[in-house]
Amino acid sequence: MNTVDIITKKRNGQALAPEEIKYLVDGYTSGDIPDYQMSAFLMAVYFCGMNREETVALTRYMQLSGDTVDLSGIKGVKVDKHSTGGVGDKTTLIVGPIAAACGVPVAKMSGRGLGFTGGTVDKLESIPGFQTSMEERDFIEQVNTRGIAVIGQTGHIAPADKKIYALRDVTATVENLSLITSSIMSKKLAAGSDAILLDVKCGSGAFMKSEEDAEQLARLMVDIGNDSGKKTMAVISDMEQPLGCAVGNSLEVLEAIDTLKCRGPEDITELSVELAGIMVYLSGVSGTAGLDMEEGIAKGRDAAGEALHSGAALEKFKSFVEGQGGDPAIAEDAGLMPQQKASLDVRAERDGFVTALDAMQIGIASQHTGAGRQRKEDEIDLSAGILLRCKRGDEVKCGDVLCTLYGDEDKIQAAAKEAAQAFVISGEKPERAPLIKKIIG
Ligand code: URA
Repeated sequence: MNTVDIITKKRNGQALAPEEIKYLVDGYTSGDIPDYQMSAFLMAVYFCGMNREETVALTRYMQLSGDTVDLSGIKGVKVDKHSTGGVGDKTTLIVGPIAAACGVPVAKMSGRGLGFTGGTVDKLESIPGFQTSMEERDFIEQVNTRGIAVIGQTGHIAPADKKIYALRDVTATVENLSLITSSIMSKKLAAGSDAILLDVKCGSGAFMKSEEDAEQLARLMVDIGNDSGKKTMAVISDMEQPLGCAVGNSLEVLEAIDTLKCRGPEDITELSVELAGIMVYLSGVSGTAGLDMEEGIAKGRDAAGEALHSGAALEKFKSFVEGQGGDPAIAEDAGLMPQQKASLDVRAERDGFVTALDAMQIGIASQHTGAGRQRKEDEIDLSAGILLRCKRGDEVKCGDVLCTLYGDEDKIQAAAKEAAQAFVISGEKPERAPLIKKIIG
């Protein structure tokens, strides 16, 4: 077999045989196939796509490129949650502690930022002292004692995805159904949990722009999960505007803490309770075992709401942070988080309603403040990002602050122009769009 022939075949729109896909995945993982050939292959997939059989094979070989975590040492039905990526999506930091407070064992492996979207590992690393890598036995021990642990993707779990993910991030090859499916499902299947909840984002700030594409992605991933013996469900949620008001790593951690104190934005609170409720149902805790999907999710949602409002979820968050070496005092003192260097307000140039707030544009502007990477090896500025002062549907007056950018002086000057373009202000109040569009079980 020859790499150039496989790239040519895909470039010409032909379907690849499973052994050709295996050859590429194994060759790239071992280092025999260089970045430039894999980049060309990914771009060919981006333009020509892959059929269902190719996608299933790609997922399988990426999963098999490393080890499968054995979580049998953790009691209970372990539920993993994964978002397809969005702007301001800090739900893991809220949903994980809520679900854990309800008794769901949360043993989660998370990723870094990808393209214009953020990543949980980068967010967690903005907490002073927080360790996102752990020995497997310590990870299991923490889930058994504290109910939740979140680590970065280790080198031996789906290493093919780890390498391909980083390459896609810097070669403009993220937004492809087969590449997203194989990336997410290879690591979720290798991560060893019993059930998987996928939060498939849809809209300008998501990789899937239309609801139709998001549903196709959700159904394919749910099928692959269930076919592999894992109870898998998906929620399709809106990402037309950023989730919550904070975009950028430490800013998002602080907003997650506010949400756990029941002072967070409405959208992030609603979605977090819904996702945690479904995790409760998938795990069969809080009296949800044996209930049908609708009843089980309703009961799970009630349990999640109770864990949030009673403060149990906030306590879980602190315990989780402490267990991984972070300082739990950040929950009371924001001054312990990385401090911003400079700030700049973007102001409205007319009176009216915010009729659109383009999530991708805010994601790109946030990346340019220093909160995201332009190249694989880039260091990110953990304190940089954007705080939205208004959201879609809000009324503003000329001169009101629309958002504030944080980061290096020269970077935020340039990013402010991009952020300003995200806001559309007009005379008519827009209708409220539903946040949760569909649940696929
Ligand atoms: N999240 C992932 O893990 N992979 C993708 O390709 C997109 C989102």
